[in-house]
Amino acid sequence: MKIAIINGPNLNLLGKRETDIYGAMPFEKFLDRLTEKFPAVEFSYYQSNIEGELINALQLVGFDYDGIILNPAGYTHTSVAIGDAVAAIRAPVIEVHISNVHAREDFRKFSYLSAKAVGSIFGLGLRGYELAVEWFVKSAES
Ligand code: DQA
Repeated sequence: MKIAIINGPNLNLLGKRETDIYGAMPFEKFLDRLTEKFPAVEFSYYQSNIEGELINALQLVGFDYDGIILNPAGYTHTSVAIGDAVAAIRAPVIEVHISNVHAREDFRKFSYLSAKAVGSIFGLGLRGYELAVEWFVKSAES
């Protein structure tokens, strides 16, 4: 099965950025472990700091992949267009946030994505991505 992981702005700085909130591991290192753990899954990974590029990436994989794990980062709380893109594509999308967005500032409590996603995971660190992969794999088996 094919799973795409798409990360939004500033997530290229994981491991350096506010490590008390987002942890000390660079995403690439985490991704290596993830691909080792799920050898049967074909992963693609894309990160961009630019809203339109994230939408292009969603459209590119959205009619071909079996699942998408999307963390739009700050755009979660502002982007109607990313929500629209998720509604437009065929692949199911799981929304992941590393931090517990509901335990932070009020503006982080609203997501333009949640209503369009099959489900959302937040506050479980990078493990959230792993749990999302597990969900896609198990769902395909049953
Ligand atoms: C985030 C939460 C967002 O509110 C924030 O803007 C991010 C990262 C998370 O993964 O916890 O950049 O999506």
